[in-house]
Amino acid sequence: MRLRNDREGYGSVSIGLHWLIAIVFLAEILLGVAMTRILPETAVATFWAYQWHKSFGLLLLFLSALRLVWVLVETRPVDLTGHGSALAAGVVHRYLLFAPILIALAGWIIVSVSPLAIPTFAFNLVVVPHLPLVPGDEAERRAIAVHRWLAYGTAIIVAIHIAAALMHQFLWRDGTMTRMLPRRRQSAGNDR
Ligand code: HEM
Ligand code: HEM
Repeated sequence: MRLRNDREGYGSVSIGLHWLIAIVFLAEILLGVAMTRILPETAVATFWAYQWHKSFGLLLLFLSALRLVWVLVETRPVDLTGHGSALAAGVVHRYLLFAPILIALAGWIIVSVSPLAIPTFAFNLVVVPHLPLVPGDEAERRAIAVHRWLAYGTAIIVAIHIAAALMHQFLWRDGTMTRMLPRRRQSAGNDR
């Protein structure tokens, strides 16, 4: 099992972090929509949906910070396309490296400046302290706006990222998708 990247492809650490972050990110968007727009405001289930949203969001903050450090110290595999989309992919990947960190920090700021001062019980195990900020309605409103628009904006960019991955796989058949898959699947379906 190769842990590190090389010029041809990703190692298990990059692949593992990518898919873990991808799954938790998509679940966070769904949970965010459900708790703010679908579940009844005062239900007990809504309280717990917020708690799980905050827990997984903070986990995402940790995983994304870890990935950022890993990307900075690791080799970046070469682009396989050969048709000029490398620049666009580079910009999107750089944005997606930072976006979950910024979104999660904005979320943490919301709960820290909220006059309601509801504690965050991470995974129902530990209380996460609030950031040392001054609570207030206006500050909360602004933090919610930043969190919301960054989250939905990033969801659109992720949709473009997924569409690009599918085009690499089914249109250009250049191996970009397969090198981000677990090793066993790579050897079963590598078309490079
Ligand atoms: C079903 C969902 C997804 C699919 C199919 C997918 C697919 C891929 C593929 C094939 C690559 C390799 C591109 C290359 O080597 O040039 C990649 C890289 C990347 N993806 Fe995704 N992705 C998904 C979701 C996400 C999400 C939700 C995020 C971030 C929130 C994300 C962030 C990244 C980043 C930062 C890279 C650059 C490589 C790295 O640093 O890990 N992806 N993705
Ligand atoms: C990358 C991780 C995260 C994503 C993708 C995300 C996504 C979302 C989304 C889509 C919403 C619904 C917005 C709306 O329609 O109003 C939301 C709301 C919310 N999120 Fe997050 N979130 C993340 C992390 C966090 C974290 C770490 C916290 C707190 C520690 C947090 C706290 C909240 C709160 C309090 C709301 C409700 C805001 C309101 O009243 O409208 N989120 N989030």
